[in-house]
Amino acid sequence: MDEMQGIKIYPDAGHLAHATADHFVVLAGEAIASHGRFAVALAGGSTPKAAYALLATREYATLVDWSRVHIFWGDERCVPPDHADSNYRMAREALLDHVPIPTQNVHRMMGELEPVQAASEYEAALGDFFSSASINREKRDETRPPRFDLVLLGMGDDGHTASLFPGTAAIHEQTHWVLAHYVEKLGAWRITLTPVVINAAANVAFVVSGSGKAERLRQVLNDPPQPDILPAQIVSPASGRLHWLLDQTAASSLPNEDL
Ligand code: 6PG
Repeated sequence: MDEMQGIKIYPDAGHLAHATADHFVVLAGEAIASHGRFAVALAGGSTPKAAYALLATREYATLVDWSRVHIFWGDERCVPPDHADSNYRMAREALLDHVPIPTQNVHRMMGELEPVQAASEYEAALGDFFSSASINREKRDETRPPRFDLVLLGMGDDGHTASLFPGTAAIHEQTHWVLAHYVEKLGAWRITLTPVVINAAANVAFVVSGSGKAERLRQVLNDPPQPDILPAQIVSPASGRLHWLLDQTAASSLPNEDL
């Protein structure tokens, strides 16, 4: 089993944050060495915040050539960038404000715009950045999806990931790279990368912490595929590495064969 894929379990949330920061640093170094830049899609929610804060420390920040790092997001809440629920704001306050990353290397989802427009603008931005053929609607399907060097994902206790929630059509999206959709259970719109892009990545890493997710994680990793109920199961990189970074409490229901 390649060192950089599979299931890794850490004693606690603190060790998990260090492992996540180490993972970022290693993959950034690899990508910059091989093709001159590191394109990463950040996860939102609360779990990755500690790792982002670690990456902002001298110990870690000096290990990354931030001038060659391009930051994107896996999903966003439809709120302004200074809103308390903004995934952009969380990452900015924990990391981006503290490292020498050029402003033009930070590619946020415009949560303040009308959601469908925000999704379409982000899809165009991905097309431009990954310099695939111009992104006019007709040509899009001939274009290979963007290949992120790393997509960081969390998992909700309902098995959702990014903003791919149970029972939503976004789970089965085959064409769009970015979607805006109204999530009934949240009573809110969300903007999300689709499985088309997530599964085209060179590396995907789930970062999962806490006993509240243990049973759902066991199902995601062991139950037969039913992504409508367990959306995290839709994540399977076509030609990339999948890594599960877990703390002991999140892994507490996993059968021995997973360990
Ligand atoms: C979001 C996230 C979402 C998150 C999970 C886990 O915008 O909410 O991208 O997919 O990763 O909900 O969230 P926690 O880490 O807060 O448990």
